Amino acid sequence: MTESHPPHPRITKAVIPAAGLGTRFLPATKATPKEMLPVVDKPAIQYVVEEAVSAGLDDVLMITGRNKRPLEDHFDRNYELESALLKKGDEARLAKVQEPSDLATMHYVRQGDPKGLGHAVLCAAPHVGHEPFAVLLGDDLIDPRDPLLARMVEIQARHGGSVIALMEVDPQQIHLYGCAAVEATADGDDVVKVTDLVEKPDPADAPSNYAIIGRYVLDPNVFDVLRKTEPGRGGEIQLTDALQQLAADEKVGGPVHGVVFKGRRYDTGDRGDYLRAIVRLACEREDLGPDFQAWLRSYVTEEM
Ligand code: UTP
Repeated sequence: MTESHPPHPRITKAVIPAAGLGTRFLPATKATPKEMLPVVDKPAIQYVVEEAVSAGLDDVLMITGRNKRPLEDHFDRNYELESALLKKGDEARLAKVQEPSDLATMHYVRQGDPKGLGHAVLCAAPHVGHEPFAVLLGDDLIDPRDPLLARMVEIQARHGGSVIALMEVDPQQIHLYGCAAVEATADGDDVVKVTDLVEKPDPADAPSNYAIIGRYVLDPNVFDVLRKTEPGRGGEIQLTDALQQLAADEKVGGPVHGVVFKGRRYDTGDRGDYLRAIVRLACEREDLGPDFQAWLRSYVTEEM
């Protein structure tokens, strides 16, 4: 008897590209990966892995490179530290140290030369195989109270193909992002069909103010397209260019849909956004928030 497969298999694998050079954050990122910069008291990358796990994806492949060893160490055990905390009876901190290594099944592959996000995603091909998978950018933080990935997984299960995350931005800012031309769908206000994509367009040429943000659920046919994708803007192999080809020809890998995100998102690779993320998340923390907010209020009223 032949085994029957559901039309759209359940997604279990998350790919987290974290091999970029992080030049916007130099010199902090000279010897430390930008994904390890703390947002309050947790490195940015831990929020991203937690987000994947809470959307049901507990097989995580991180794309790393030179200088990225701390990423692997963070999700590994640290017996020395654990036994020191155990000896002290400091169970609360022990739990914090053990938490990252218990989160998910972690895998790593090195990108070699950082030839762009498309190239980083292509490095995941042998691990992913022929199933749909999620991509979460390692420096893009989605507030855990505004879930996005689970909705994207649901839309992918309904339509097949690929799903990208979109956010409406000020039209003058669209040149900083990949941009999508879209059509409405019957799935609700937050779901659109993507008909075209362009990387970092001039505002005058942009087809919309829908910017691509760092979450994707991709059909595995994207790998074949990426293998044939020539370096684009900035001499890098652009994921947007490969997705543009999928959107233009549904026969290649099914349709491309977009989920429009209206929640809180921080690009921790950008210094301003990084500071905003810390202030916001610190203010909302039960342990730190009350004191920090009181200080912030007096700082704003008395010193600004
Ligand atoms: P960015 O363009 O934000 O990362 O890439 P970057 O190149 O590190 O940053 P700057 O502009 O120099 O400051 C988005 C995501 O893609 C990963 C990055 O690590 C980041 O998570 N990336 C980018 C790779 O993994 N490999 C690459 O070749 C490029």
